[in-house]
Order: sequence, then structure tokens, then C-alpha cells
Amino acid sequence: MVAAVRVHKIGGPEVLTFEEIEIGAPGQGQVKVKQHACGVNFIDTYFRVGMYPSPVGLPFVAGNEAAGEVIAVGPGVTDLKVGDRVAYVIPLGCYAGERLVPAERAVKLPANISYEQAAAMMLKGMTAQYLLRRTFKVEKGMNVLMHAAAGGVGLILCQWANALGANVIGTVGSKEKADLAKANGCHHTILYRDEDFVARVKDITGGKLCDVVYDGIGKTTFPASLDCLRPLGYFVSFGSASGQIEAFNINVLQAKGSLFATRPTLNHYAAKREDLVAIANDLFDVVGKGAVKIPINQKYALRDAQQAHRDLEGRATTGSSILLP
Ligand SMILES: NC(=O)c1ccc[n+]([C@@H]2O[C@H](COP(=O)([O-])OP(=O)(O)OC[C@H]3O[C@@H](n4cnc5c(N)ncnc54)[C@H](OP(=O)(O)O)[C@@H]3O)[C@@H](O)[C@H]2O)c1
Repeated sequence: MVAAVRVHKIGGPEVLTFEEIEIGAPGQGQVKVKQHACGVNFIDTYFRVGMYPSPVGLPFVAGNEAAGEVIAVGPGVTDLKVGDRVAYVIPLGCYAGERLVPAERAVKLPANISYEQAAAMMLKGMTAQYLLRRTFKVEKGMNVLMHAAAGGVGLILCQWANALGANVIGTVGSKEKADLAKANGCHHTILYRDEDFVARVKDITGGKLCDVVYDGIGKTTFPASLDCLRPLGYFVSFGSASGQIEAFNINVLQAKGSLFATRPTLNHYAAKREDLVAIANDLFDVVGKGAVKIPINQKYALRDAQQAHRDLEGRATTGSSILLP
């Protein structure tokens, strides 16, 4: 039996239940991993409240990202062995002391990446990679707007876009978060709870506006995010921290400058094994070189997962949060 955090009915943080569960032996193509650290992500809350349906029904073990050591190998697994250090992003099952992992979704960790770093960055950092390098290719001199710039994905996006030579503009919920975003590559910060972020973006860019807006906030920043874009600019809606964007008339994209809009998710960008490995390697490279650091600003015991969710949803966190089994 191992410790795990399960959801038996959807709801608030109080439905996260710390209990013991049985993890069987690894089946065909699976490995069993002793987990050393589990990432906490906003998507964990979407599953908990039922915004995203659980693919395994109820109850389910929460969590979508973790890192640990292979302790058993199932039939048909050829490229992993007992003792390998691995990390992965998998829908559900990650808030636990041990778990079974399909070997094809696990990535071997380089020696210079710790378990804690890996658990703090696989989901958020691989997301930053595909957003900046594939969904829209950020180039030197571009104006980019990141919402929630001091958050988990936000701090990684800011550092990486800065390293690519972009002019990085970030919205944040407080003065302290503005200071943190600035210390992590954000050139200009906007206190979007107090300031009109469209007016500030116009001002900061001298009226040129942005080539791309990365928006993980959703409901409260839409449609104003579209007004931050130059003609033919890209609106990248990658999350819904404030709630989902409601249905809108697509003609608004024409009226606001022949804009492009997309709603991407890592699952599709990393669906093929070769893409998963390429995205992870690019992330390991920028972290290894020191161009991107992974701030782990909250650590909790696994049994305190409820508090981790309260803090994340209460806008009380910065950077990444992890749970320690
Ligand atoms: N599509 C993908 O592939 C993908 C993958 C990973 C993550 N995501 C998305 O990326 C976004 C960031 O995820 P994260 O895990 O790194 O979280 P996070 O940014 O660390 O936390 C969310 C932040 O959103 C801001 N926020 C604004 N309005 C909010 C509200 N009503 N309630 C709560 N927070 C609000 C807060 O920052 P301020 O106080 O500064 O406003 C808060 O700290 C989420 O939308 C997530 O779903 C998408």
C-alpha cells in the first residue's frame, strides 16, 4: 500500500483525500516508479472540479506530473531499467508515493536535473517550449504579452522569451509578483487588477502592439487580450485560470485585425514519442545552460495537497509548487 491523494467526488479542495492505495505490478509496456516529487498544476484543479472529465471515472488519483525512480519493469519494456531516473506528464495518477507509468510516456532525466526540478517543470516547461517554439515562433525583437507572468508557466515563459530576444510584457496580480517577474526576464509588468492592460500595452509598445499574446487566464482577460495584438497577430489561449472563455463570434478576429486564435494543449503537441522527447530535450537544454531557471517557491507534503490547491486557486503562489510523497 502507498500513500495517495484521491478524488471520490468532484468539488473544492476538500475532496482531495489522503489515503492508502494498492499499486499492482507493472503490466505490458509499463514501469513502476517510486515517486520523489509530484508537480502541482492548474489543470489538477480542472479535473478536481469536473471542468475536465476524468478519463478513468471516479475515484481517481489526482495529479498530472511527477518524477521518480523506476523500481520494476513490465513485459515488453526495452529502453528503461530498474534504477533509471524518469519524469512524465500523464493525465491523472500522479499524487502518489508510487505509480505505474506507460514506458513510452516517460523521459529519462539527465544527471543535472533533480527530481524536484523535474516535477516542477515537465508540464509547465514543456508547455512553454511548444508555445514559444511551435504554436507561435517567438523571434528577436518581437513584442510578446504573457498573462500571469509570475505563475508557474509564466516565469518559465518570461525567461525563455527573454532568452530568445523578445520584448517581454507581463501582467501580474501584485507588486511583489511584478518584482519577481522582472527578476525572471520580464521587461515590463502591468498590474492588471488595477491598470487597463490594453492601454499599458499600447504605451509600452509605442502603439505597435504585440505579435503574440499568451493567455492562460481565459474569462477575465478576454476579449481585451485581442486588443493587445497588431494586425495578423496571434492570440494563444492556453488555459482558463479565471474560467473558460465563452462562445464568441469569429468575425471579431477580422474586425480586430485579421487575427489568428488557437487553443492548444501539450497532449497534442507531445502525442508522438519523438515530439515528447524533442520537447523535453529542448527544455533540458535551456535549463542545463542556465537560460531558464525553475523557481520552486512552494513545497508541501503529499498529505497537504488540499492546501496546495487552495493556495494555487487563491492566487497565493508564484512559480512552481510541488508535493513531496
Ligand atoms: N494548454 C496547455 O498545454 C497547458 C499546460 C500547462 C498549463 N496550462 C495553463 O497555464 C495556466 C497557468 O498554469 P499554472 O499551473 O502555471 O498556474 P499559475 O499561473 O501558477 O497560477 C494561476 C495564476 O493565474 C492568475 N489568475 C488570474 N485570475 C485568476 C483567478 N480567477 N483564479 C486563480 N488564478 C487567477 C494568478 O496570478 P496573478 O495573481 O498574477 O493574476 C494565479 O497565480 C493555467 O491556465 C493552466 O491551465 C496550459
